Amino acid sequence: MPGPLPGLLRALLGLWVALGLGLIGLSAVAQEPLWADLQPRVALVERGGSLWLNCSTNCPRPERGGLETSLRRNGTQRALSPEPPRLAAPRLLEVGSESPVSCSLDGLFPASEARVYLALGAQRLHPDIILEGDALRAAATATASAEQEGATQLACSVTLGRESRETWENVTVYSFPAPLLTLSAPSVPEGETVTVTCAAGAPALVTLDGVPAAAPGQPVQLQLNATANDDRRSFFCDAALEVDGEVLSKKESTELRVLYAPALDSVSCPERITWLEGTEASLSCVAHGVPPPTVSCVRSGAAEVIEGLLHVAREHAGTYRCEATNSRGSAAKTVAITVEYGPSFEELSCPSNWTWVEGSGRLFSCEVDGKPQPRVECVGSTGTTERVLLPLAPPDLSPRAPSIPSEPASGIYTCNATNQHGSMVKMVAVSVESPPKMDESTCPSHQTWLEGAKAVGPACAALGRPSPQVSCSREGGPWPQRIHVSRQDAGTYLCLATNAHGTDTRIVTVGVEYRPVVAELAASPPGGVRPGGNFTLTCRAEAWPPAQISWRAPPGALNIGLSGNNSTLSVAGALGSHGGEYECAATNAHGRHALRITVRVTGPWLWVAVGGAVGGAALLAAGAGLAFYVQSTACKKGEYNVQEAESSGEAVCLNGAGGGTGGNDSAQGGTEPDGTAETPAGGEVFSIQLTSA
Ligand SMILES: *[C@@H]1O[C@H](CO)[C@@H](O)[C@H](O)[C@H]1NC(C)=O
Ligand SMILES: *[C@@H]1O[C@H](CO)[C@@H](O)[C@H](O)[C@H]1NC(C)=O
Ligand SMILES: *[C@@H]1O[C@H](CO)[C@@H](O)[C@H](O)[C@H]1NC(C)=O
Ligand SMILES: *[C@@H]1O[C@H](CO)[C@@H](O)[C@H](O)[C@H]1NC(C)=O
Ligand SMILES: *[C@@H]1O[C@H](CO)[C@@H](O)[C@H](O)[C@H]1NC(C)=O
Ligand SMILES: *[C@@H]1O[C@H](CO)[C@@H](O)[C@H](O)[C@H]1NC(C)=O
Ligand SMILES: *[C@@H]1O[C@H](CO)[C@@H](O)[C@H](O)[C@H]1NC(C)=O
Ligand SMILES: *[C@@H]1O[C@H](CO)[C@@H](O)[C@H](O)[C@H]1NC(C)=O
Ligand SMILES: *[C@@H]1O[C@H](CO)[C@@H](O)[C@H](O)[C@H]1NC(C)=O
Repeated sequence: MPGPLPGLLRALLGLWVALGLGLIGLSAVAQEPLWADLQPRVALVERGGSLWLNCSTNCPRPERGGLETSLRRNGTQRALSPEPPRLAAPRLLEVGSESPVSCSLDGLFPASEARVYLALGAQRLHPDIILEGDALRAAATATASAEQEGATQLACSVTLGRESRETWENVTVYSFPAPLLTLSAPSVPEGETVTVTCAAGAPALVTLDGVPAAAPGQPVQLQLNATANDDRRSFFCDAALEVDGEVLSKKESTELRVLYAPALDSVSCPERITWLEGTEASLSCVAHGVPPPTVSCVRSGAAEVIEGLLHVAREHAGTYRCEATNSRGSAAKTVAITVEYGPSFEELSCPSNWTWVEGSGRLFSCEVDGKPQPRVECVGSTGTTERVLLPLAPPDLSPRAPSIPSEPASGIYTCNATNQHGSMVKMVAVSVESPPKMDESTCPSHQTWLEGAKAVGPACAALGRPSPQVSCSREGGPWPQRIHVSRQDAGTYLCLATNAHGTDTRIVTVGVEYRPVVAELAASPPGGVRPGGNFTLTCRAEAWPPAQISWRAPPGALNIGLSGNNSTLSVAGALGSHGGEYECAATNAHGRHALRITVRVTGPWLWVAVGGAVGGAALLAAGAGLAFYVQSTACKKGEYNVQEAESSGEAVCLNGAGGGTGGNDSAQGGTEPDGTAETPAGGEVFSIQLTSA
């Protein structure tokens, strides 16, 4: 029983116990008197202590009885368990090392009163006691000393009252110092020799990096030439010792530091670094080397050192020199930094407006800024065939071959430039233009003008965009601008069409056509013909194209001969009926003109002159120009005084109107060719008398 706590009043607690016997049931048929007893009758217990009460009876079924008390009951007695204590301890104990040992026993009451003895050989241990119900556990730390080396025993004994239980176990105490692993120097410069030694005392057997010693107790050595690769190399030394049939081992390891000059390899300090514009980046160039080198990078041609995070801009692209330095030396490397960025269009290299000149074979040049070089594709959208590709000038990175090799259509194209960092779109207005072009349909090489028409020059136009200017000039001299076409305007003209994209020339031959004019109508012989004589009339006309000549003779005139082209009318053996008025008319596509002449067939003593000529030209086409050539004759109608005419040789206009006597020199000898355009031949009032001799 544990002693009362110091300072506590030793108070005695009086315990009254009421013993209930009613439950047992006093049988009326008892052969011997039944009894029940409680010892001690007066119980005194120390405060905090415990007291056994013995309740006994001779009843046939004592387990049905019981002890009743207002006090809390704690267990029932089992005198000590017959089992020995259990020991928990290692079989082998290393000298100097602490090992936990414990001894435990169940079935103790009151366990608190039990006493424990725990000893390693002669060395008594002082365990901590842990009680749990009627169980006891004594735990201690055993440390074997060198004197105890060898076989010994761990003993445990538990005593409660006058009883005790004990147990022991064999323990082997051994000593096993750790192996010794030494480097000739903990850090060596590259290239120097290092000696590694692994040693342990007998009878341990050492192994260095897998190489065992020749015999137990002997060291192992390793020599190496330190290289950079040996930096942080670990060496392992194992020692093995057999104790009581069991092999124990101990390990040691150490690390070698090799000092070496900085090295910049392509993994930790790449030669090429790519950054993306707008991101944050730092020039990462890490050098190997012991002691750790310092690295500084400087842009070529600049002085300040690049360090820390940069907000990447295109200006950061370039070549940098990185230098790593430590106490063993230094190393340098050139690092090329590329800054990539998304596409962007610039008006100069990819204009919004582009004019394609037909036949030029030019391609649209749309160079886009961006890294890597963006791929560009211009696709027709508005005003062009949908999805038609605009052929691009090299570098043509358009993914598809253009569907039209070189002939774009006007319209709006959407140019899309893409690289891995984004894409951008620009609208391009394409207009198609062409140099001037003239051909037979726009500028005929042979042209015909009509004299007198309004002069406008050769009819000559040209195709092309923008609309070409066309001007024609006469070969071999300027072309006098006139109001009306004259036949002098005929000739060869050079027409020149010009626009911004070039010129085209064409030679145009211009012919001028004109209405016929009977330029000459003459009789031979001129002075009239005697009956039976021969006479001819010659008519010459000016016209283009050449006129056709036709004649009108007096009604009764027979046997008239005409030359092949009607230019000459001839009569052989004139009769009186051949006298009269003859009309020569010249006709072409532009009109008709006629003159008349009067033929007199006269005797030797009498002749009658008939004057007057009738212009019989009927206008085939209305046109003022002909008027220029028409001469009017004042005295064309009337009676002529033959007698006076005979004496004077000229006819006199009888009605005197206009007074134009003798008006025309060409009417010699009484023939008077006159022309008129105004009045048709009908209705003339002439008096013609023919008299045969
Ligand atoms: C309890 O009392 C009975 C009768 O008096 C006696 O025989 C017995 O030995 C006692 N037991 C103890 C543990 O004292
Ligand atoms: C019984 O007594 C022991 C020792 O005094 C104590 O450790 C244990 O808690 C007690 N048990 C009960 C159930 O009160
Ligand atoms: C302890 O060792 C002794 C002799 O050294 C031996 O007789 C005994 O059997 C051993 N006990 C155990 C439990 O091994
Ligand atoms: C170490 O280097 C020396 C000379 O540089 C050479 O002779 C020797 O063989 C090297 N030792 C080893 C283990 O490589
Ligand atoms: C492209 O042409 C349009 C229409 O002619 C004009 O308004 C615009 O200013 C031009 N753009 C450029 C960049 O020249
Ligand atoms: C531009 O082209 C890229 C790649 O083909 C595409 O992803 C993007 O949608 C296109 N952008 C436009 C506006 O068409
Ligand atoms: C000649 O004149 C006649 C009638 O006057 C006409 O039918 C004929 O076609 C003319 N011949 C030529 C060649 O002009
Ligand atoms: C008509 O024929 C003659 C003789 O062949 C020729 O001299 C004359 O020029 C011709 N006239 C016309 C208008 O062709
Ligand atoms: C008139 O013409 C005819 C036929 O051509 C000819 O025989 C005759 O000699 C001519 N007369 C004169 C006088 O020339």
